[in-house]
Amino acid sequence: MVKINLGGCSSFVKDAEYKEFLNKAFTAFDTLESGSGAGNDFIGWKNLPSETPECLLKECEAVRDSWNAKGIDLVVTIGIGGSYLGARCAIEALSHNFLPKQGAPKVVFAGNNLSEEYLAELIDYMNVKNVACIVISKSGTTTEPAVAFRIVKKYLEDKYGAKEAAERIVAVTDAKKGALKTLSTQEGYKTFVVPDNVGGRFSVLTPVGLIPIAVAGFDVRAMIQGAKDAEKALASKSEDNPAIQYAAMRNLLHKNYSKAVEILVTYNPKFTYLAEWWKQLYGESEGKDGKGIFPASVTNTADLHSMGQFIQEGSRVMFETVVNIENSNREVVIGQDPQNLDQLNYLAGKHVEHCNAMAQLGTKIAHIDGGVPQMQVSVECINEYNLGSLFYFFEFSCGISAYVLEINPFNQPGVEAYKKNMFALLNKPGYEEQSEAIRKRL
Ligand code: PA5
Repeated sequence: MVKINLGGCSSFVKDAEYKEFLNKAFTAFDTLESGSGAGNDFIGWKNLPSETPECLLKECEAVRDSWNAKGIDLVVTIGIGGSYLGARCAIEALSHNFLPKQGAPKVVFAGNNLSEEYLAELIDYMNVKNVACIVISKSGTTTEPAVAFRIVKKYLEDKYGAKEAAERIVAVTDAKKGALKTLSTQEGYKTFVVPDNVGGRFSVLTPVGLIPIAVAGFDVRAMIQGAKDAEKALASKSEDNPAIQYAAMRNLLHKNYSKAVEILVTYNPKFTYLAEWWKQLYGESEGKDGKGIFPASVTNTADLHSMGQFIQEGSRVMFETVVNIENSNREVVIGQDPQNLDQLNYLAGKHVEHCNAMAQLGTKIAHIDGGVPQMQVSVECINEYNLGSLFYFFEFSCGISAYVLEINPFNQPGVEAYKKNMFALLNKPGYEEQSEAIRKRL
């Protein structure tokens, strides 16, 4: 279960201020729980873990098993934003850093950029693999995944024939509307639904995340169980509730201490994409109406040798939230060297993770001394269960936090601005006027 430690903030904030923000978070908690806040038609994610039907888990496993039976060794997962980052986060966190997972296909991602080189190299890779594809788009109309899917679909049809290609494609989209839904119905793809009341960045525990994670060979039942236990644990309106504590403290640091940037810090590269998922969740949920805390991230200790300088001594605008992993899943002990030319014998017999923990502690003290408050969110180890808990914890806290900020967490109006310009520049039918206007500005 997720634990929180606010000790690294205590020298910065006063008790009375924290109490005031706890009260704000209690009010926001009530708003979220009662469904009376802005965007309340998008809070279906709140009860997803406890309401995940057994048949959905079985269907995810059935896709995995049928593709394993075909000997598929590469699954291209197409999606962007909330239709991409949760699955990538889980798969990166749970995979071996170097070796493939035995008995499971490699899962790669596309449709999250418009790089021609990326797609050309994906084709190179598909050429030497036995390929299937999961295409994910709630709206079914997002340009980046649509472009990638057009290319991958054609590739699969040319390689395997239309009928077999259709068996190698699974679509995750809206129940009724959108181009992807129409296409999937016409082509007879196996289709999963993104519930109407769950927005993209809150959808990792729907088929959006569950299908790719299951196909990659990971235990989605354990992930849902972790989220379900978090759903239960975070349901109490109490000052011990870590989601309420996190929402209260980050808003206090922002409002009273002008901390405009929150850095999510990890000391395990497997959690780099947890930070990417978290950045999208908080960035798209809170960054609007001229408000919000800018979400940034670092992966230490690598980034202590780059961003560490800025965090220690640069503009004092940030606070940190460290995702602490209490136990390493693996052991490597540093050996004794009779010559000791590298002068590391003082570490002989020590676990590498002990050095990592001391780097983490030393950095915490240094950053606090340097004026950077620090919160710590802990899980026992990296596994499916704890990832499920972390997903739910950050989602739930995000809802509370955005309501403290008096923001609708569940819309993203700003995302449309670039799209309109891009469509105008690409001469999309229907954008003739904008096209003319934008060209005059060039
Ligand atoms: O969180 C969100 O709603 C967005 O990031 C979407 O997930 C992203 O824009 C992709 O949208 P879609 O799934 O409709 O293709």
